[in-house]
Amino acid sequence: MKKIESLAEYYQDYQESIDHPESFWEDKASSFQWMSKWSKVLNWEFDSPKVEWFVGGKLNITENCLDRHLEIRPNQVAILWEPNDPKEKVVKITYKELHIRVSIFANVLKNHGAKKGDRICLYMPMVPELAIATLACARIGAIHSVVFAGFSAKALADRINDASCNILLTSDGSYRGSKQLCLKAIADKALESCSSITSCIVLKRTGEKISMKPKRDFWWKEEISKVTSLCKAQKMDSEDPLFILYTSGSTGKPKGVQHHCGGYMVYAEYSFRNVFQYNQNDIYWCTADIGWITGHTYIIYGPLLAGATTLMFEGVPTFPDAGRFWEICDKHQVNIFYTAPTAIRALQACGNEFPEKYDLSSLKTLGSVGEPINEEAWHWYNKYIGREKCSIVDTWWQTETGGILISPLSNITKTKPTYATLPLPGIQPCIVDLNGDELLGNNVQGNLCIKFPWPSMIRTIYGDHERCKNVYFSNYPGKYFTGDGCKRDHDGFYRITGRVDDVINVSGHRLGTAEVENGINEHPLVIENAVVGFPHDIKGQGIYAYIILDKNSLSENELTEQILETVVKEIGSIAKPDKIQFVRGLPKTRSGKIMRRILRKVAEGDTSTLGDTSTLLDPSVVEGIIKNSK
Ligand code: WTA
Repeated sequence: MKKIESLAEYYQDYQESIDHPESFWEDKASSFQWMSKWSKVLNWEFDSPKVEWFVGGKLNITENCLDRHLEIRPNQVAILWEPNDPKEKVVKITYKELHIRVSIFANVLKNHGAKKGDRICLYMPMVPELAIATLACARIGAIHSVVFAGFSAKALADRINDASCNILLTSDGSYRGSKQLCLKAIADKALESCSSITSCIVLKRTGEKISMKPKRDFWWKEEISKVTSLCKAQKMDSEDPLFILYTSGSTGKPKGVQHHCGGYMVYAEYSFRNVFQYNQNDIYWCTADIGWITGHTYIIYGPLLAGATTLMFEGVPTFPDAGRFWEICDKHQVNIFYTAPTAIRALQACGNEFPEKYDLSSLKTLGSVGEPINEEAWHWYNKYIGREKCSIVDTWWQTETGGILISPLSNITKTKPTYATLPLPGIQPCIVDLNGDELLGNNVQGNLCIKFPWPSMIRTIYGDHERCKNVYFSNYPGKYFTGDGCKRDHDGFYRITGRVDDVINVSGHRLGTAEVENGINEHPLVIENAVVGFPHDIKGQGIYAYIILDKNSLSENELTEQILETVVKEIGSIAKPDKIQFVRGLPKTRSGKIMRRILRKVAEGDTSTLGDTSTLLDPSVVEGIIKNSK
């Protein structure tokens, strides 16, 4: 696919994509390998919602990620893997090898009975086998559901059960910095309540002792020795599901966001190539985990579709020290680097001496994703990492959007600190007020919606289309609602101001307040609790929990510890509250609704403007909350 090469071309393409969206996307889709062509580019209506791209087209995304590169770049490195421990060997997998390894694992899945449409859960560390297995699912048309390997047994079980997965892929353990986590033990616990799983295939990574259940558990290595390396790609309809990825919403239950083959493929490559301005032979590194959407689209699919070399890192930014990211950039001469503001802030706090030690001159483009990047972090990234020679792309998007929707195009369009700037061609954002009226012109602020479909948009929530409709398409009829607040400045640049729903963004990870509240409620002494976000220097947002206890027989410290453990058990350590305040009551309206606005203000430390509290059932609880706030 050809990329946009100048500002004039960006504006021209943008206009073209609005005036003639179908021919615009038809042209982009034509650069891929299809088994048969679509009969219509787009069918859509946002009420049901129903969105179909490249209708009737047949393809397999892995043919486009792998087979089609075999003639042109068989020996180019596709996946460059950097292990957690810098002393361990780097792994380089060429396109040719990757094709073979994906085919082999696809045959393993078939041997275990997997077929088109089955759901397969992956609960794995950031090792090449995770990418291989993800692609192997796509090869045979099974729907992959990758679950971040930091989630608890309970969270894993919920996700496996929601999609009735029949195979689980995991590893004995995982390395994260100096820590080691026994994933198989967590998986075993989860599987106690997952009757749909018939096979669990286990990769040996740490070599720790684990238990293997006969007839259910199989070693990866043994399974791959039983099959051949030939596996024809399954013919998929453009609108067949490719994957499910769970994300948090404003109710307690995570949503299985579903993406489909054709549109996702086209937009993943289009956005990758244009935003990062990828050039052949560039070394590209996205530091996300494959357990999140960023890892799906911009570690696996986007780069491999473009024939790029994608670096995959197993470890954490601060191991063995806070120079690890920069050491890797230097060692592999990385050209494009994509990370999250929380990592930037954490590394900035460790001091400039870390990046200063390394040669970062290969870097051309620096990306940011996951949350609004604050001005200070933006400037530090620009100065100490980009050495004022790189273009910073602040990319706004969501699990539901499948790919980047609003972002500068590196070195093509203008950047502006803290602004995601302009929509990509094909994307029609609009800002609405609380009545749902579109705010036209510049210098406006409101809620961000998208008013026209784009190829990689969410198609449904697995098993609950009604929820998809209610969450995204009902608040503002005829528009997709993002859940984000947004401002458009005098230049027409977009700045995302954060979530306007009950979702908090902790270190770039989305968590529903209700989800955390449900976790806390599992502690037997908790009667009721309310969770809100508050500004946090490193994490962006932290979690503040207000908790009413039954009878307080233990000390507050002990209870705090126990509640934290409960949350880790129910969800995972990413959901641990940063602050816990035990309260006698929560501010409720007479109809019993918790006034979160007040709790948010207290958590922010701003009690001067609490607004009217006279409508509360018991206004005096607020005084107690303020007095004992943390
Ligand atoms: C937030 C991650 C500001 C936003 C790709 C969105 C951002 C949520 C940015 C989606 C950004 C993501 N600037 N906010 N550049 N990128 N967000 O689904 O609130 O994990 O709705 O997808 O992260 O998070 P998700």
